[in-house]
Amino acid sequence: MRIGLVGGTGREGRGLGARWARAGHTVVLGSRDAVRGRERAGELSARYGVDMLGGDNEHAVAGADVVVLCVPYSAHRETLDQLAPSLGGRVVLDITVPLRPPAVTRVSLPDGNAAALEAAAALPGARVVAALHHVSSAHLEDLDHVIDCDVLVCGDDPAAREVIASLVRDLGLRPVDAGVLDNAIALEALTPVLLHVNRHYKVKAAGVRITGLS
Ligand SMILES: NC(=O)c1ccc[n+]([C@@H]2O[C@H](COP(=O)([O-])OP(=O)(O)OC[C@H]3O[C@@H](n4cnc5c(N)ncnc54)[C@H](OP(=O)(O)O)[C@@H]3O)[C@@H](O)[C@H]2O)c1
Repeated sequence: MRIGLVGGTGREGRGLGARWARAGHTVVLGSRDAVRGRERAGELSARYGVDMLGGDNEHAVAGADVVVLCVPYSAHRETLDQLAPSLGGRVVLDITVPLRPPAVTRVSLPDGNAAALEAAAALPGARVVAALHHVSSAHLEDLDHVIDCDVLVCGDDPAAREVIASLVRDLGLRPVDAGVLDNAIALEALTPVLLHVNRHYKVKAAGVRITGLS
């Protein structure tokens, strides 16, 4: 599968990209700056012995089977507006958590209630799925680290949800189907709680586990 990561040069995108490249996917790291995208892809390819591509965000999106939005919430709307003409009909994975720094341990719903719902509204025809809000970048870039976290996956298109569930397995994580895209409100809102838990218990990156599943 060809995976284009928009803002893939950042903390979360680098680890996701490296893990998917190691799993055999064609990964394109996107950036606002094509040179930075290529350089980060080259560095990660050398570090992990994989073959990642890089370029600007438009390049990452072009021809991708799955587009992953990896930009901060403050850049979410602008990025969607720029890329919307290219994203119709695509599976778009939105991992955005609508944090409002510095109050990152407090739930703050955006105007559209969830970043992923705002993405779906801004991308007519795209098959938006939301996931990975609870997987910290602190764990992703150590490719051999077994991450103690389930990944709740929601979206209105069951087939698109299954595509993302399969990519979650390729990261070495367990996907859990979390239903329709409205449920992204709950998934996004849980991250500030986890950030509070990290601070309170002085741990690096708390995660979530769903019990009762075989
Ligand atoms: N970090 C985590 O542990 C974590 C966990 C779960 C979910 N998330 C979510 O994942 C997303 C990415 O998180 P991150 O920690 O990887 O973010 P980040 O490192 O701060 O930024 C990611 C990339 O976004 C691009 N970017 C930054 N400002 C921008 C702007 N104003 N306009 C357009 N692009 C901009 C940058 O790429 P270029 O400068 O190369 O364009 C940057 O490398 C966020 O929405 C976050 O809520 C993060």
